[in-house]
Amino acid sequence: MRAIILYDSKTAGGSTDRLIDSIGMELAKSGAYVEKARCKAQADYSFVQEFDVVIMGAPIYYLLVSSQLLGALVQSNLKKNLKRKKIALFLTCGSPEPMATLLYMPQLKIHLVPNKILTEKIFSPQQLSDPAVIEEFVDELTSAYRKATRKRNSIVSWTEEAEELLDEVPSFFRQRIKTAAEEYAEDMGYTSITPEVIDEAKAELGGM
Ligand SMILES: Cc1cc2nc3c(=O)[nH]c(=O)nc-3n(C[C@H](O)[C@H](O)[C@H](O)COP(=O)(O)O)c2cc1C
Repeated sequence: MRAIILYDSKTAGGSTDRLIDSIGMELAKSGAYVEKARCKAQADYSFVQEFDVVIMGAPIYYLLVSSQLLGALVQSNLKKNLKRKKIALFLTCGSPEPMATLLYMPQLKIHLVPNKILTEKIFSPQQLSDPAVIEEFVDELTSAYRKATRKRNSIVSWTEEAEELLDEVPSFFRQRIKTAAEEYAEDMGYTSITPEVIDEAKAELGGM
């Protein structure tokens, strides 16, 4: 697995910096290749394409996810480059977990509706340097990744209408479209491919 940790913090060498180093080391122990990058609101995120998993997170300051990460999701090409990427989310904050789940995590998740979220974790100040908690986060992430990428044994079926649409595709191109639509449907948890799913996949995958 190739993983990139995209993060932000206003505190150089602070708790978030230490946390991502621990996450990175734990992931590397599991055999993953890991890089980290501090977010800037306006930057080119095309490098994200090279990674299988994007681990994304930041602290909360004054009720908001740290501004460069949120800014990158709104102002840059990050969201475009996250298309179909598997994501893991983390936050560091002082608030109790239920409050953070309700108020802070959605600030990230609202930008990631089409993505597969492998795992998410809100780290309290006490958990930031707890190796067992970090290990658990990484274990959850790696097992969810393995499950999501397990050799596909497609159980997705095609409705008659969707098959008719597929038949209209030139034969030399048909298998590619079929596979792309089935992969999309599986990623999204659909069990059958309808014309609406094909339209949705086309919009998401840029015409397939
Ligand atoms: C200026 C400031 C504002 C903060 N505001 C909040 C907040 O609104 N809600 C919260 O849960 N935690 C808040 N925290 C706690 C931080 O999110 C938490 O300590 C985090 O681990 C800091 O990460 P850092 O060391 O990388 O800066 C705040 C911390 C600071 C320093």
